[in-house]
Amino acid sequence: MKTSAVIFDLDGVLTDTAEFHFIAWKAIANKLGIEFNQEDNEKLKGVDRENSLMYIIEKGGIAMEANQFNHLLAEKNQHYLTLINDINPSHLFDGVLTCFATLKKANIKIGLASASKNANLVINKLGIEPLFDFIGDAASVAHNKPAPDIFLAVAKGLQVTPQSCIGVEDAVAGISAINSAKMFAVGIGDAQVLTQAKLVFASMGDFEFDTVQTAFLSTPAT
Ligand code: BG6
Ligand code: MG
Repeated sequence: MKTSAVIFDLDGVLTDTAEFHFIAWKAIANKLGIEFNQEDNEKLKGVDRENSLMYIIEKGGIAMEANQFNHLLAEKNQHYLTLINDINPSHLFDGVLTCFATLKKANIKIGLASASKNANLVINKLGIEPLFDFIGDAASVAHNKPAPDIFLAVAKGLQVTPQSCIGVEDAVAGISAINSAKMFAVGIGDAQVLTQAKLVFASMGDFEFDTVQTAFLSTPAT
């Protein structure tokens, strides 16, 4: 089947905000006296704000009133917003603009499927908002990654079938979401971590659309 769209995750795929989420979550965990390391971070990549905090308090084995929970969510987001304050187009990962230009030339639609409620702010700061044909709204889907909802919502918004889409993710939860949506999953990062991806590139700078397209075309539909 011909590729009709490529749907990208944001944090950790188009820019290095994954690192900022890590710093902000680590600060919250440490404040609660809970250790938070890269392994925890890997599990939280792609996971929404509420479920990330749930993971941290469950790890620490602590109980929490709704008030404190909501207060910590707001505190984490405030810290995150401070960290992304200075983001500008120079923070786009190498290879993103070239990749988008290749897709546009080939008449392939470009979508955004981020779990972040700050996604619009970040792509605005990066100056790439006009390049997307459809931007998913994390706040409006019933279930976040690893559920397929956000990827399916973007395919719908782009008016294409999920089976004709390629999804690009840096997170284990995101690759699961793409697979559940019956799209072709491309990982950005460590192939030993993103084991459920059909293809993995170390970074967006290594992303080769021809290679993806060839692999996609030779994969039997499921
Ligand atoms: C995902 C990130 O894209 O968005 C997670 O990978 C983050 O680390 C999640 O927690 C939610 O982001 P936000 O901006 O809504 O708190
Ligand atoms: Mg990500």
